[in-house]
Amino acid sequence: MVRTQRIMGNKEPVLNFTVLTLFPELVTAFFEHGMIHRGIERNLVSGECVNIRDFSCDRHKTVDDKPYGGGSGMVMKPEPLEAAISSVKKRNPRAKVILMTPQGERFDQKKACDFAVGQEDLIFICGRYEGIDERVYTQFVDEEISIGDYVMTGGELAAMAIIDSVSRMIPGVLGSDASSQSDSFIDDRLEYAQYTRPEVFNDVKVPGVLLSGNHEKIRQWRKTSSLQRTFIKRPDLFETKDPTAEEKIILRQWCRELETLVNP
Ligand code: ADE
Repeated sequence: MVRTQRIMGNKEPVLNFTVLTLFPELVTAFFEHGMIHRGIERNLVSGECVNIRDFSCDRHKTVDDKPYGGGSGMVMKPEPLEAAISSVKKRNPRAKVILMTPQGERFDQKKACDFAVGQEDLIFICGRYEGIDERVYTQFVDEEISIGDYVMTGGELAAMAIIDSVSRMIPGVLGSDASSQSDSFIDDRLEYAQYTRPEVFNDVKVPGVLLSGNHEKIRQWRKTSSLQRTFIKRPDLFETKDPTAEEKIILRQWCRELETLVNP
């Protein structure tokens, strides 16, 4: 008996996430909490977990086997994965199949935007053990994605990281649309410094301009803060995107201020 659980409301969501996994409870818990849960409740996204083991045809529900050629560890068998993918693709044959693997293309904010605007259905294959049979990759996978140069014991955490960052780009999933527009990495710059109450904390005051109510001054202050943070923490981002004319003026002004500090 094949058991899947599609968590969704009563109108067609913008984006459906389906996770093929041997640990559906892990991913179901993720779909049932926080921002993604709110997006599901508002019918903006849906989340489905498919247990790969449910698609195994033998009575022991085997999903892995020894590697041909010898070696340590086990490899995920192709048949249960093929059956699991086909069952999900019946709903939408154009669904994109993504394999979570440290060998994949590195995931970043641009990729999150591409997935958010360009897709209706994303299927994530989460491998376990030593990996999956190569024929699954060559026959069924559209993209391989990695979340960084380190190896985890399975793809579930990586899939959840991607689903989290993609779904927050869907209008309405976050409290306000503006919150994802000022994110770090939008336009290849880091987000500006944020403050909340109290006005003075451990003798450090909130910058006066943020209390001024002057929207243009606040915009300029935030632009400067964003540029300074990018310059200090991630200067490589200036190689991806050259500073604009406004940014050059701000950076020159900052250099002059630093020079006066060093040579008063
Ligand atoms: N599975 C194991 N490690 C991974 C990684 N770094 N990225 C994506 N999937 C993975």
